[in-house]
Amino acid sequence: MWAHAAVALLGLALLNLVCQASCLGAVVTLQPVHQDGDYEVRAYTSVITPEPCSSPLREVCPGPNCSTHINSSPLRGLYPSPGWCLQQWQEVVSTKSTSRLQLSSETNVLLKSWADLSVRLDNQKVNQPPHVALLPPLRVSVNCFRRFPLRIRDEDGDRVQCRYANPEWGECQACSRPAFLQLEDGSCEVVYTGVGQTGQHTLELMVEDFNASNTVLSSTPLYFSLTVEEESTDCDELPAFTEQTPPEGAIFKTMPYEKVNITAGAHSSERMVLEIAVVGPPGLSVSTVKSGEEAGSPTSVNIVWLRSPNELPHLLPICFTANTNSSQSDTRCIWIEQKQMDAIPPGAVLKCGKTEMNLSFPIESLRNLPLDDLQLNDASCPIFHNDTHVMTVIPLLGCGTETVHLGTEMVFTNILQSVRAPSAISRLPTLLLHVTCRFPAVMVHGPHYNIAMPTEEQIFGAPRFWLEFHKPGEGPFANRTQIANGAQREKRSGVRSAHRLELLDLYVFSNTSLDRAELMVGSCMQSETPDFQTKHPFVAGGCVNSNRTLELITNTSTVKIYRLDLATLSIQGTTMYVQCKVHLCIAIKATQKCPDECAGQSLDEIVDSLITRTYTVRSGPVSILDEPPTTTAAPTTTKVVTTASHAAPEEASVIAVGVAVGIIHTFVCSLLH
Ligand SMILES: *[C@@H]1O[C@H](CO)[C@@H](O)[C@H](O)[C@H]1NC(C)=O
Ligand SMILES: *[C@@H]1O[C@H](CO)[C@@H](O)[C@H](O)[C@H]1NC(C)=O
Ligand SMILES: *[C@@H]1O[C@H](CO)[C@@H](O)[C@H](O)[C@H]1NC(C)=O
Ligand SMILES: *[C@@H]1O[C@H](CO)[C@@H](O)[C@H](O)[C@H]1NC(C)=O
Ligand SMILES: *[C@@H]1O[C@H](CO)[C@@H](O)[C@H](O)[C@H]1NC(C)=O
Ligand SMILES: *[C@@H]1O[C@H](CO)[C@@H](O)[C@H](O)[C@H]1NC(C)=O
Ligand SMILES: *[C@@H]1O[C@H](CO)[C@@H](O)[C@H](O)[C@H]1NC(C)=O
Ligand SMILES: *[C@@H]1O[C@H](CO)[C@@H](O)[C@H](O)[C@H]1NC(C)=O
Ligand SMILES: *[C@@H]1O[C@H](CO)[C@@H](O)[C@H](O)[C@H]1NC(C)=O
Ligand SMILES: *[C@@H]1O[C@H](CO)[C@@H](O)[C@H](O)[C@H]1NC(C)=O
Repeated sequence: MWAHAAVALLGLALLNLVCQASCLGAVVTLQPVHQDGDYEVRAYTSVITPEPCSSPLREVCPGPNCSTHINSSPLRGLYPSPGWCLQQWQEVVSTKSTSRLQLSSETNVLLKSWADLSVRLDNQKVNQPPHVALLPPLRVSVNCFRRFPLRIRDEDGDRVQCRYANPEWGECQACSRPAFLQLEDGSCEVVYTGVGQTGQHTLELMVEDFNASNTVLSSTPLYFSLTVEEESTDCDELPAFTEQTPPEGAIFKTMPYEKVNITAGAHSSERMVLEIAVVGPPGLSVSTVKSGEEAGSPTSVNIVWLRSPNELPHLLPICFTANTNSSQSDTRCIWIEQKQMDAIPPGAVLKCGKTEMNLSFPIESLRNLPLDDLQLNDASCPIFHNDTHVMTVIPLLGCGTETVHLGTEMVFTNILQSVRAPSAISRLPTLLLHVTCRFPAVMVHGPHYNIAMPTEEQIFGAPRFWLEFHKPGEGPFANRTQIANGAQREKRSGVRSAHRLELLDLYVFSNTSLDRAELMVGSCMQSETPDFQTKHPFVAGGCVNSNRTLELITNTSTVKIYRLDLATLSIQGTTMYVQCKVHLCIAIKATQKCPDECAGQSLDEIVDSLITRTYTVRSGPVSILDEPPTTTAAPTTTKVVTTASHAAPEEASVIAVGVAVGIIHTFVCSLLH
């Protein structure tokens, strides 16, 4: 029964960082992540450094396994002066690895952590190290007693203890333990006695979780920093949070693309609250302070976090505190829980259209699901089903569909879920299916983005496609189309081929100016007559389908080149016509490519890309003679026939085979029990 507990001792994950005197707080969060049947550990580091904040953490985050969270506006604060900012990065730590990192010449951070990754006896899962919240820089008046509870959550419900980092185990650098700043034994609360020295003081602490037989399962470092300031006349005169501020420890559960939007407000009877200092996960945005005119009136900020696709831990703390120029409120922390999603039902298909999202899934994939309980955000919108499938057409504007503007994307979401009468049997499965379509915001103008859906032209501009023909080694890509010496085939003898070209390169162009748009050629055919009565396809389904044609690789995404072997095309006359079906595609994520139709990736499936409708481009007559016919008064000796045929608007709409205008996806779902 405990069989896999025995084999699953995966080892320790270690990470070292040092945070010297100038650093205003740091923490590492370890998260074991199941990956390809094995576990890897992601270490998320957050460090608060004083202004001026050095730009990207290249030195600390060098390798391919590390990524910084580049934020155009990192979280910053004013107090203690000269201010600070939050820097964050994440790293895949191989088990039993150790790293030492230098943040800048002034700030270097030593944070040593480890986690036992064996499978727990109690829940048969790998232990989750505790999540320790990083508090904003803390301040206290030199004469004021103050308690600073640390904010920690352990997802396994383990007993958690805090201790000083141990110099003998190489866990700390300064290892100072000033008498006026104490960690109460075993507790996770730091106490300032009210009789200390002004200045910045730091404690290097370890947070540990224990199993039922008191074995330590992981150690998480926390660099605690406190600035002791001028004497205060009234130690109880501190800013207090307003009622609209969420309570300490509140948890906000989020689905993908869901937004957490909270207001944190504080007031102080004597002084102005000048800032609400916030520390939280990457992507957090904090509004500018809205403050009252005079002392006593509340000051507030909106704190917004939108759950976009991410690799962050599934519990994310946000901590904030209110500062006046000489005092600080208590620190409050709330937690965002990224709800875990199950796999989508097998066979489910989501199509994103201009005005609607179409979802269907086989009933079989969700046995016993009571279909009559299903509803969208707006319960009055219909859900259809036949004997085999559940289907719904979800309008982008309506049926409770929510619109989120996320970076350069517009995201539309709705939720299909079973809503059960309270009296109903609870053993039947429940469905909670999050349906999302994403569109690049290129198409969106102004703040009122939800007024109208963009047209294809707004996304891609008015694209133009054309064909050109060049002899190998000539034309705009002459470099790449040259035939190596000796590789050129012998001219065939005989009257018929004497003036005929052996090889001709077909160029397919588009004039799109969008950086990331790729030209996709779905099919091409050749014919001897302009009506294509008899046609010979040489590209089909995105693939060159004959060994008489060769695709030449260019590194330009708006051009495709095909080398036609004219000798084997058995053209009777001296001209031919070519027609191609083409479209443009943009991969939504910068790191991705458009689906390769040739590799069997269907355009019709759920893909992360935007596709134009299919355009048909035709050439005029193309001479396949090596020399221009003598009857033509050719002014030059140009041997290449160049024909351009622009896909005129009326031609452009010839075919729109099965390719919807915007097929974008992201289809997230959850099956709850
Ligand atoms: C990156 O992580 C992989 C897997 O943990 C490891 O094999 C590799 O050595 C790491 N590379 C670096 C540069 O740390
Ligand atoms: C606690 O962890 C240790 C080391 O992994 C293990 O030997 C022990 O059985 C565990 N105890 C319980 C109650 O899980
Ligand atoms: C957050 O909520 C506040 C007040 O409810 C609102 O004014 C603000 O626009 C919201 N922010 C976002 C990004 O939704
Ligand atoms: C803080 O601001 C108050 C006015 O609100 C001012 O009287 C006081 O001198 C300031 N204290 C410091 C340390 O700047
Ligand atoms: C969605 O379904 C409706 C009705 O069946 C259909 O008219 C529409 O074209 C479909 N849209 C997409 C994007 O498949
Ligand atoms: C039910 O609808 C799905 C999706 O529209 C369709 O593929 C399937 O053939 C239909 N089944 C029956 C039995 O009509
Ligand atoms: C390709 O052609 C360009 C001019 O079009 C020339 O500058 C470049 O050197 C050529 N590259 C090679 C590898 O021949
Ligand atoms: C492409 O060419 C067409 C027709 O000349 C033009 O209307 C359009 O603006 C061009 N698009 C781009 C992106 O250059
Ligand atoms: C294509 O190549 C294959 C093997 O490489 C050959 O058997 C076949 O005859 C060729 N077809 C044509 C039309 O040349
Ligand atoms: C193609 O790539 C080479 C190097 O990879 C680069 O030097 C060249 O400029 C690129 N050509 C185009 C047209 O982008």
